[in-house]
Amino acid sequence: MNKIKLTKKDIYQGNLILVNSKNLLKEQDEVKDLEPFNYEFPNILLNKEANEHLQDALKEIEAYSKIVPVSGYRSLKEQQDLFNTSLKENGREFTYSYVALPNASEHQTGLAIDLGLNQDNIDFIRPSFPYEGICQEFREIAPKYGFVERYLKVKQNITLIDAEEWHFRYVGYPHSEIMVANDFCLEEYIAFLKKGPFNYKDYEITYLPYKKDNIEVEIDETTRISGNNQDGFIITKKVK
Ligand code: DAL
Ligand code: ZN
Repeated sequence: MNKIKLTKKDIYQGNLILVNSKNLLKEQDEVKDLEPFNYEFPNILLNKEANEHLQDALKEIEAYSKIVPVSGYRSLKEQQDLFNTSLKENGREFTYSYVALPNASEHQTGLAIDLGLNQDNIDFIRPSFPYEGICQEFREIAPKYGFVERYLKVKQNITLIDAEEWHFRYVGYPHSEIMVANDFCLEEYIAFLKKGPFNYKDYEITYLPYKKDNIEVEIDETTRISGNNQDGFIITKKVK
């Protein structure tokens, strides 16, 4: 067993950070661990771990050339420009429904990807990703690879974003599967985790509130730690 020390800045990084208009990204260091989606889309960047799982998912359903990446990592400036351009071109109601405010966008973390059905004239803000065919196949296997469809119509009152059937967020396995099985959006899941440790399959998941710097946590090779971008950490361990 090894030990690591967690500090305040660790609250703001990791696969499970909650990023929305009430939980803004903090002034960040440069976002690390980004890589291109693939050689065909060198300008669409994604968190490396997320991209590895995304590629495996697309491979499983032979989706190459049928599903394309539309938008991955965005810098603060890119999110700002997108928001301002959309305000001018699409108006306030549309923009607040479909474009997160600067520093409230998951795209700034590298953990979100907008996917589109490959066709002519793909819309950058609202690509088509229907609930049928290859797109639906992707949607169904996504949780096995750590991804969730992030913005469902039924959760709009919580996420404050309209239905976005194209926007997938990497949270990592088994969290993706637990969220889908319990109909949790990320806001609800992060709140649920604070109710106490629980087990899912051979994983043990524990929330650790931040109290002071250099809290020591025992880890083994299966341990994954993420901040929640609010007030603590989520520790995921294999128990068998
Ligand atoms: N379209 C999502 C909400 C974003 O801009 O991050
Ligand atoms: Zn998106």
